[in-house]
Formats: sequence, structure tokens, C-alpha cells
Amino acid sequence: MAKVKSSFVCSNCEYTTAKWMGRCTSCKEWNTFQEVMDQPRSSRAQRAAASLSTDDRPQKLSEISLEGGGEVRVRTGIGEFDNVLGGGLVSGSLTLIGGDPGVGKSTLLLMALDHFSQRGLDVLYVSGEESTRQIKLRAERLGIEGQHLHLLSHSDFTHIETVARRLRPRVLVIDSVQTVHMPHVDSLPGSVTQVRELAHKAMLLAKQSTTAILLVGHVTKSGNLAGPKVLEHYVDTVLQFEGDGRTALRILRALKNRFGPAGELGVFEMVDQGLREVKDASARLLHERIPEAPGTSVLATMEGTRALLAEVQALVGKPTPSTPARTCVGVDRNRVLMLAAVLEKAGLAVHERDLFVNATGGMRLDDPAADLAILCAIASSLLDRPLPDDTLLLGEVGLVGEIRAVPQPERRLREAARHGFRRAIVPPGVARSVQLQGIELLPARRVQDAIRLLFAR
Ligand code: TYD
Ligand code: MG
Repeated sequence: MAKVKSSFVCSNCEYTTAKWMGRCTSCKEWNTFQEVMDQPRSSRAQRAAASLSTDDRPQKLSEISLEGGGEVRVRTGIGEFDNVLGGGLVSGSLTLIGGDPGVGKSTLLLMALDHFSQRGLDVLYVSGEESTRQIKLRAERLGIEGQHLHLLSHSDFTHIETVARRLRPRVLVIDSVQTVHMPHVDSLPGSVTQVRELAHKAMLLAKQSTTAILLVGHVTKSGNLAGPKVLEHYVDTVLQFEGDGRTALRILRALKNRFGPAGELGVFEMVDQGLREVKDASARLLHERIPEAPGTSVLATMEGTRALLAEVQALVGKPTPSTPARTCVGVDRNRVLMLAAVLEKAGLAVHERDLFVNATGGMRLDDPAADLAILCAIASSLLDRPLPDDTLLLGEVGLVGEIRAVPQPERRLREAARHGFRRAIVPPGVARSVQLQGIELLPARRVQDAIRLLFAR
């Protein structure tokens, strides 16, 4: 018998080597290598893969007709979910939805399947981790009857595939990639080899049967889709379901989407009856804010094509003789350290004090336009003076304290005006180019200008 060769694949970045390594030379992560058996591809498998394309010969772009083709979309009926998908699920597509255990992935998908079922479309929910009784109990809680919702508790993908080919559901959910396995693959469920093979087979099934398939993936501690990180290349769409574990707020994000804009975002709230859509996310994010307290500021961030108002909080402690704490939640720590240094240069030193910065509501603020709001929240806490509650802060801050332009200022400012903000401190370019009713734009060229506008009273 021919010797089966193996190689080692990094589960974080998919770097492949012949020898095991403790640390990946490509992404520098530790303990990410898993052994993968190289399976010789039969010529039949190669033929099957080739027959996937409609035409083996290359075609001229101008000769390709879109008539009668295009994507067929089915709406989930959950507005926020449909928006994130770019207008509903595409038939024959493969979607990966990742998130921490308990964030609400199963709940969201069961609710979406219920909407299809109510419209008379057959759908199949397969769980490798819960019994049909457990799923039924959850469905009862959610008030789901499910005339056309079929349940299957099974962990063998070949069986799931047989069932799906017979039932031909419009939508198939596999919950989760870590608990469903390929019986002929000789490695543990959830390993790189397993999930990769599963994704490959699921993709073939989706394309051949026009069923829209959703794979659920649990997230590891490091925040990567476990093992499934390697899945991101294989699937059409990658969704991430986030929550901070403290609040009921949940955010669904499209990290990748072959059928719509990536970066779109949907907001939900976990209540007793399941997940409720949050239509006005800005209002929800700001409703617990105490504007008269020092150390809070508001900015408008872009999430996909949507502008969202968010609150940043800072707490600056008394000078401490030991190493001061620097704790950041929902904002990048290095960014905060840089802003603290810029603030110090502008005359407000925090270097001997504990510093805590938090984006409320479980938000993750990666938008550089949040810089000015973070900096001013720190200044406000340090000076123990609140910021004017009707003032929005918008701008990226550079190392020499300059306030730089931000993309899509008009959308952001419109959202602020809609929520009652009457003034905004903005980069000078924005003040010149944007004019909006109901909101006064105050230009600030440097950090010092912003601080003067806010605190010179
Ligand atoms: P679940 O969908 O099982 O999460 P995941 O599939 O991502 O692991 O959600 C589990 C949590 O949601 C659990 O802690 C209970 C809570 N929950 C509610 O608060 N209300 C509900 O109606 C349901 C069904 C769950
Ligand atoms: Mg689940």
C-alpha cells in the first residue's frame, strides 16, 4: 500500500509545512499546527470538481449572459439579518456564522428558519450538539410551531447529506462545524482536516442542490473562528455574531460577502422571547448614557453603510506610585496609549495615573474617526468636567495633534442631528464641505482647539 503522506497546517493562517512547528513562522501564533493527511485526489474527484463549472472553456467577458441567471435570494424575514446578508440568503450559497458559545447563533437561525417555514418553504435544522427534544423546547420558548421546519439531531455528515438530498430544503442549517464530522476522515471532529473537508462537501451540496447552507462555528478564546478560520476562504459569506457577555445587545456583522457589501451590521437584543431586532441602534446605544458625568463622549462611527452613534467612556485615576493601569475595552489599547501621549503634549498629562477606556454596549470601535471622542473623554475625566451633552466629536487624531478628515462625514452628522445633537467638533475640511440643517459644525485644526472649544467656559 502506498504510504499516506502528511503535512502540518497552521489553523490560524493556513501556512503549510512538512514538519511540525511550535510557532508559526508566518503569523507568529503558538501551538496552531495540526497534522493533515494528504489524500491523493482520484481522477474521478478531479473530474467531479471540474464538472462544477458550467463551461470548461474560457469565455470572453462580453459573451457571458446574465439573462435568466443571477442570484435567487430568499429573505429570512428578519430585517436586520437580511440587511447584513445584502438582501436575503442566496440560493446555493454557503454561509459561515461564527460567535462565542451562548451568544445566540442557534436562536437566531431557528427564528430565521421559522420565517421560511411560515411561508411554506421546507427547511432543515441539523444539530450535532442538541437533541430534537432540546430544540423543540427552545422552539416552544420562541413560540415557533414549524409546519415546514424539519429537525435532525445527527453528527455524521454523510447521513445529513443523504437526508438533505432527499428533502431538498430551501435552507439547511448545520449546528455546528465542530460537532458534525466526516466519518471517512481520520481525525477528530473540529480539526482542520475535518472542517475543511466538511466545508468542501457542503459547498458541493449547496451548488448542486441550490439549497442555501448555513454552517455554525464556535469561536476560540483568541477570537478567531476556531479551526473554521481556515473555512473563511471556502465559504461565500462569513458572518460574525458578537456580544460582550454583559449586556443583552448582540451585533451581527458580515466579515466577507460574495453577494453583497462586507461590513454590514445588524443589531439585536436578547430577551426572554428570543432575539429582538433593534431598529434604532444609535438610540439604544445612548439610552443609558449620563451626559452630565465627566468622562463620557459621543461619536458617530460607520458600520458598513450605516452610521451609528456610540458612547466612549474614560476614567482617569489619581496619580499612583506603582505602574499605572491601562485597561481598554472595545477600543484598541495602542491607539489609546497614542492618544494619551498626544494629550500630554497638549498639556494634559495622564502618564502617572490609572486609565480605563470603554466603548459602551459591547461595541468595538476600530474606526479612527473615534480618536477625538476617546481623547476628549480622557480629558473630561482628568479635568473632572463634563462635555456639553449636545456636542458630537468627530475626527482622527495624528501624532502631532492634528485633527484629520474622516470618510463619509455627512452620513455621520445626519445621524447625530437626527438624535438631537446640535453641535459637532469636526476637522476643518469637514466644516467647509458639509452643511446640514440643525447642527452647527465647529472646526478644530488641532487637539488644543477642540479642548478650548469644549472647556473654555
Ligand atoms: P444560543 O442560541 O443557544 O447560543 P449559541 O447557539 O450561540 O451557543 O443562545 C443561548 C443563550 O440565549 C442562553 O444563555 C439563553 C439565552 N436565551 C434567551 O435569553 N432567550 C431566549 O428566548 C433563548 C432561546 C435563549
Ligand atoms: Mg448553539
